[in-house]
Amino acid sequence: MLKTIKQTADYLANRISEVPNTAIILGTGLGELAREIEGREEIPYTEIPNFPVSTVEGHSGKLIIGTLGGKRVLAMQGRFHYYEGYNMKEVTFPIRVFKALGIEYLFVSNAAGGMNSSFDVGDIMLIEDHINLFPEHPLHGKNYNELGTRFPDMSEAYNRKLRLLAMEIAKEKDIKLQHGVYIGLQGPTFETPAEYNFLRIIGGDAVGMSTVPEVIVANHAGMKVLAFSIITDLGVIGKIVEVSHEEVQEAAKIAQPKMAEIMRTIIQRI
Ligand code: HPA
Repeated sequence: MLKTIKQTADYLANRISEVPNTAIILGTGLGELAREIEGREEIPYTEIPNFPVSTVEGHSGKLIIGTLGGKRVLAMQGRFHYYEGYNMKEVTFPIRVFKALGIEYLFVSNAAGGMNSSFDVGDIMLIEDHINLFPEHPLHGKNYNELGTRFPDMSEAYNRKLRLLAMEIAKEKDIKLQHGVYIGLQGPTFETPAEYNFLRIIGGDAVGMSTVPEVIVANHAGMKVLAFSIITDLGVIGKIVEVSHEEVQEAAKIAQPKMAEIMRTIIQRI
């Protein structure tokens, strides 16, 4: 594993003119955020040694390196979901590579179902904490001390300073920013009404099929994490309607400009 990570990081370090200290994972429907990145270099996943290849509709699968908010960033357009059949080591492999490249900050976005009754479709939720309901843990198996400690602390998985900064920026820019707990589960089914109800009862505000594995590994690796969910549908009793992947993508697109504005400004200020 260590050799594979190094091989991929070395390949990217050679290909990228200057490695940024911030990485962004662009979630479902948020791929166009990458358009905001200027002076870009693009590296399709298919060209990166040891990188899994993204298959899900709506993800074109490439790294985009360029400038956002005046700072250099590396963005993943297309992530690897567990439901696609990847194991957790594959899902989180890019995070290991980012760390090996010297990247310190990880920004994550995703599409999620909202379970908090004060949420609306199109809202952005700042993730304050998560509940991991994936069936496999990304740190399962042998621990490499070079990568992180055996029993990582998760008391502040989403960096507090970055969260405060995000809230400050949203206020300044008059962007409505919800906050809450994200529950990650494997999918690919959306939830039944009874499942949404259960997830709400156990403390979730939003639910989705990503983010938690990457955030766990980023914490293991000692990176600073900030993550947002775009609420694309509602799992609120009385408001639950049929939902499709296309609708999720459409709803996420609507929130893209606000999401871009928040991300750009945070990156400018860190
Ligand atoms: N559930 C799970 N994943 C999701 C949802 C949802 O309601 N919306 C977008 N991704």
